[in-house]
Amino acid sequence: LAGIFYGIGIGPGDPDLITLKAVKILEKIDILAIPESKKEKGSVAYQIAKPFLKKNIETITLVFPMIIDEQKKEIIRKENAEKIKLEIDKGKNVAFLTLGDPMIYSTYIYLLENLKSNNILIQTIPGITTFSAISAKLGIPIVKGDEKFGVISSFDKETEKILELFDCLVFMKISAYKNELIKILKKINRKFYLVSNVGKENEKIISDIGEFENEETTYFSTMILFKGRD
Ligand SMILES: C[S@@+](CC[C@H](N)C(=O)[O-])C[C@H]1O[C@@H](n2cnc3c(N)ncnc32)[C@H](O)[C@@H]1O
Repeated sequence: LAGIFYGIGIGPGDPDLITLKAVKILEKIDILAIPESKKEKGSVAYQIAKPFLKKNIETITLVFPMIIDEQKKEIIRKENAEKIKLEIDKGKNVAFLTLGDPMIYSTYIYLLENLKSNNILIQTIPGITTFSAISAKLGIPIVKGDEKFGVISSFDKETEKILELFDCLVFMKISAYKNELIKILKKINRKFYLVSNVGKENEKIISDIGEFENEETTYFSTMILFKGRD
């Protein structure tokens, strides 16, 4: 009997914000597939999952190198999916962990896309996304009434145009386009919150442009930009 591949959302970083469903599945999986950069098992997602995993759980390492060549990337993604398929075919239940929700800008999505066509049983377990945790923390709703909401993970010439279309915009992975973002913020003079490491001990909230300019923006930073909110 073949196993199941699980994509598990671990939540935004606060260990209490994991779902019961994720816990139940973590308790029964045989193999954890870990991206190579997180091989030391020091990743936040792994630390949150660890109390629920079987002792001495088997792991397989997947390499997702930071390269630009799309063709090479596609080959590597297929190889990674193949590694998982091998274990599933042996009857093992394999899980891949994602911070936040697995369907939002995660590496899991590439595995899902490559494994879908293989007649493998796949289950995605949703998680609380980072921006939900940030909105809750700030006590400011993302959208109400007929407002519009968008999520962005990169910056191009269209970005400035869409600022007018959305009442709330979430900017993820901002360390890659911080300077462009600051330029726009200075121009539009709109309320923003830059939140780093939400739910963790080193959580930090900035809503001053000068402070944003001067601090070192880490990968675990998200910005929420509001139109017409205090
Ligand atoms: C690859 S995306 C993953 C998003 C995730 N799947 C989710 O649902 O939130 C990584 C981005 O998520 C955001 N992020 C992840 N953890 C965060 C945290 N603890 N605090 C603030 N932002 C975080 C940052 O914008 C980071 O660049």
